[in-house]
This record gives sequence, C-alpha cells and structure tokens, in this order.
Amino acid sequence: MKILVTGGAGFIGSNFVLMLRRQRPDVSIVNLDLLTYAGNLENLKDLEDDPAHVFVRADVADREALEALFSEHAPDGVIHFAAESHVDRSILDARPFVVNNVLGTQVLLDVARKHGVARYLQVSTDEVYGSLGADGLFTEETPLAPNSPYAASKAAADMLVAAAVHTHGLDAVITRCSNNYGPLQFPEKLIPLMIANALEGRPLPVYGDGRQVRDWLHVSDHCSAIWAVFERAAAGSVYNIGGNNEWENIEVVKLMLSELDRPESLISFVKDRPGHDRRYAIDASRIRDDLGWEPARRFEEALPETIRWYLEHRAWSERVRSGAYLDYYEAQYGARIADSPPSRP
Ligand code: NAD
Ligand code: TYD
Repeated sequence: MKILVTGGAGFIGSNFVLMLRRQRPDVSIVNLDLLTYAGNLENLKDLEDDPAHVFVRADVADREALEALFSEHAPDGVIHFAAESHVDRSILDARPFVVNNVLGTQVLLDVARKHGVARYLQVSTDEVYGSLGADGLFTEETPLAPNSPYAASKAAADMLVAAAVHTHGLDAVITRCSNNYGPLQFPEKLIPLMIANALEGRPLPVYGDGRQVRDWLHVSDHCSAIWAVFERAAAGSVYNIGGNNEWENIEVVKLMLSELDRPESLISFVKDRPGHDRRYAIDASRIRDDLGWEPARRFEEALPETIRWYLEHRAWSERVRSGAYLDYYEAQYGARIADSPPSRP
C-alpha cells in the first residue's frame, strides 16, 4: 500500500512517518510538505536512504502540484496533517490559516476524489468543539463551536470533509485529538517553549491565571490512534482521541521546572491570550470501544522522557528557534521577554 502524508515534516506528521516506516514496512509513503517555518526536513533524516519514503516539497493548496503528484505516485490513501497549527499565530494573522487549512483541504479533497483514493483521513483537533466549563467532556456529538481563528479554520475544513462524504460519497474519516507533546515539537507550543526558556534561564510566560486545562497526549499515542482509524474505521466516521490526562497549565509548568531542577521564580504571568479557551477534555470511549485503542504512555513518565529528549537535542531546538521564528517570537511576546538577559539560577 502507498499513502500520501501531508505535513510530514512537522511535529506530528514526522513522528507519524517515522512510526509507520518502523512498524509497517509494507506501507510506502509519499510525504508532501511546504516546509513552512514549522516544517523541518531534519526530522526525517533517518529516512534519507529509505526508498519507501519519497519527499515532495509542495503546497497542499496548489492543485497543479497535487495533480502531478497523484499522477506520478497514485497513492491508495491520504492522511492530511498539513496545517497552520498555532493559535497565537492565528490571532496575529488569520489569513494563512484560511488559505492553508481551509482552501488547502478543499484542493486536496478534490484531487484525491478525482484520482479515486480508497481512504482519506483528516487530522483535526478537539479545539473545533470550543471551550468547556469545569465539568463535562467533548464527545463526537458535541456541536462545533470554534473560538480562535485556528479552531475556526479547522472546523471549516472538517465541514468540507463531511460535505465531500455526503455529496460525493468520498470515503473519508476525521480524527479530533487533544494537545500533543513529545519529541520534534516546534518550540512555540507550551511544553517545548517552557523547556527552552527554562534551560536558558528566561522567564516562562504563563497566560492569564494559568488555570486553563488541557488534556495532554503523547504524540506516539496520537499516531497509533490515527493509524487505527485509517485502517479500520467505517467511512464517514469521526473519532475523538484523548489522553484522559487533564492538567492546569500552571501545574504542567511547575512539574517541568521541578524535572529540570529550575526555580518557580522563572514563572512570569503575562497578559492572557484573547478569547482563551478555558478547558478542553475528551471522551475517547468511541475509539476505545470500536477500535480497541487506548493511550499506551503515562504523562508521569513520558513528560520526563520528553524533557530528556529536548535536553539531548538542544542543537535541534536552537536551529529551529532561529530566523523567522524569532521575528514571530518578538511579535508575540515583545522585547520584554525576547530581549531579557538569560540568567542561570
Ligand atoms: P506543525 O505546525 O508542527 O506542522 C505542520 C506541517 O504542515 C509543517 O511541516 C508545515 O510545513 C506543513 N504545512 C503547513 N502548510 C502547508 C501547506 N499549505 N502545504 C503543505 N504543507 C504545509 O503542526 P502539528 O502540531 O504537527 O499538527 C499537525 C496536524 O495535527 C494539524 O492539522 C493540527 O491541526 C493537528 N493537531 C495538532 C495537535 C497538537 O497538539 N499539535 C493536536 C490535535 C490536532
Ligand atoms: P498551546 O501549546 O499553544 O496549545 P493550544 O492553545 O492549542 O491548547 O498552549 C497550551 C496552553 O498553554 C494554552 O492554554 C495556552 C497556554 N500557553 C501559555 O500559558 N503560555 C505560552 O507561552 C503558550 C505558548 C501557551
């Protein structure tokens, strides 16, 4: 079998490609990625000599490039990770989110359908459901109520996938996962950003009161869930994926500081994110009951392991934190943090 993976040079996509090549030698991969600021070919260096992994640099919204790729490689299935993925960036400028996430998904759906792919999987997010109060869980029946431009673009893409199923009979499925952590995550997201700042002795910017809740899932568990849904779910189905692992941000930050043996005085409460979703939490009973999937990793051991990975790959973090990323960092946090002198505890 041959599958097209989009966004396979990003955080989750590269973890997925590496996992699949390890576990399923019978599945070959065409990996399409535009290599935006978040895409890093270095993540895939172990596959440089692998004839069953072909990398194509292209924009998923570029119909001609997709037509050429499908004609040349004729993939049997598509797993669509490629997206602009960071909420704070979408607040600063929503346009790339509409172009890449909404238009990109429609172009990919159109070309995949024209070329008769047997299965299409849309990698979505729990953020399409909006925000929870203190109680309750998102189920697959929770109405879509996205709050950030990022979440709205992902919800729009999900609806385009559902429309392709309903109108054109495309065999497509959607997964909606909670927050991921693990190796190769771009250090703009909470966990790798806080590790990088703590190591440099810089302030750790916690938004608002830090009591927002996220359900953290190790990226390897997300990848195994995606593969289970891709292989075995019924056409048209939607699956939530979650870790049953709710944490307040401030508690995650304190846990990381303690693992890194750095003082809590590095914590700096900063202005809250506009429209900040208070709590995400997932009911993942459907994927457990239908497909027998459950998370294999526990946060208590996988978070320290993740921290060790970043400690052992400081050169990786430094390279991805250079250039365009620094311009963004300054726009988001201002000189207050970007220019604050590093101080070791
Ligand atoms: P990421 O930002 O690390 O990677 C995104 C990748 O997509 C990059 O390699 C980038 O170059 C590529 N890309 C962006 N626009 C493209 C385009 N127009 N054409 C081709 N490639 C393009 O993101 P991630 O965290 O790995 O997320 C992957 C997917 O999983 C996204 O669809 C995201 O919405 C979803 N998701 C992420 C999380 C999470 O916690 N990170 C949770 C649930 C769902
Ligand atoms: P993030 O990793 O951006 O994921 P998402 O917004 O998609 O859930 O953020 C996770 C949580 O951490 C979220 O509640 C926002 C918060 N956060 C901070 O407090 N400070 C930061 O610098 C960042 C990036 C996030």
